[in-house]
Amino acid sequence: MKNVGIIAVGEYIPKKILTNKDLEKMVDTSDEWITTRTGIKERHLVEKEAASDLAVGAALDALKSSGLAAADLDLIIVATITPDMQFPSTACFVQAKIGAKKALCFDISAACAGFVYALATAQQFISSGVCKNALVVGSEVLSSITDWKDRNTCVLFGDGAGAAILSEVKSGGIMATYLGSNGEMTRLLNVPAGGSRMPASHETIDTRMHYIKMQGNELFKLAVTIMTEAAEEVLRRAGLKFSDVDLVIPHQANARIIMAVAKKLGLAEEKIYLNIEKFGNMSSASTATALCEAVKEGKVKKGDIILLDAFGAGLVWGASIIKW
Ligand code: ACO
Repeated sequence: MKNVGIIAVGEYIPKKILTNKDLEKMVDTSDEWITTRTGIKERHLVEKEAASDLAVGAALDALKSSGLAAADLDLIIVATITPDMQFPSTACFVQAKIGAKKALCFDISAACAGFVYALATAQQFISSGVCKNALVVGSEVLSSITDWKDRNTCVLFGDGAGAAILSEVKSGGIMATYLGSNGEMTRLLNVPAGGSRMPASHETIDTRMHYIKMQGNELFKLAVTIMTEAAEEVLRRAGLKFSDVDLVIPHQANARIIMAVAKKLGLAEEKIYLNIEKFGNMSSASTATALCEAVKEGKVKKGDIILLDAFGAGLVWGASIIKW
């Protein structure tokens, strides 16, 4: 099996910013509540763009530093729960826009763990020799499924995209992955209508069924337990200890979840990368953009051991250890 690594990262964040103060004018909330309960200060929202537009921005940013052209890509995977359309895949829209003519394209639906799932999938295609160069993107327009009248959820989410380009590397790369799911918990976080279970109708629109419904409190506890276990399991699979890890890049759903996981694992705060303050929860794009920003800020150096740790609706979870 070949070693597979990330050779470049990129991101694209829409320009428009919605602050907690702006939200105070929309629902019964306060900057103080949002900041202390979640760690979020602001989030970026699209004006007219769709998931593929954000994904293209992130893909071009990653390609720029990869030394590859779009024509060199033979695989594109977009992780998203807010695709441009139910079908065709958002990855196909991205392919056409960047001109990656020889790529095979598909989407992955694994909510906030989508980027880690997509990395693991691309790794399989490359290590088995089916593909050479893969583009993996986490791209979300969560504002399109957010109920802007529901204070329980609307303060949490934002829009954005992060990308990675994967190829064979001589050493290091993705050392271990741990993915898991628990389909008994679908009720905790979902968008009820718009699929084949509850197709769109006047009634589904009137009852606001096309928006995110979430049991935040139950999810909070599960997120802490599962992200802790996922981090422990992936390290075990890599044959490493927590003291070997240089930087943890967790899914950015809530700063309190992340700090509770860090405490359980006995990790120092400076080993945890946080950007939730600026972006909120961008589902599959959160881990992707956090990785990209950490690299661009010089917090990831060659030879460093990085731990990605994500959790989301499904339930699904995914952790990977990458030697940079
Ligand atoms: N402003 C002010 N008050 C609010 C707000 C708000 N925006 N939202 C809720 N409240 C109120 C509630 O109504 C409740 O009031 P009550 O006690 O009078 O009933 C009170 O605040 C406490 O509500 P809780 O839900 O218990 O608040 P909690 O501390 O749990 O924080 C939160 C809520 C931020 C949603 C938290 O539970 C959380 O982050 N959960 C996990 C989210 C997550 O991990 N999701 C999975 C990934 S996302 C994905 O896959 C797309």
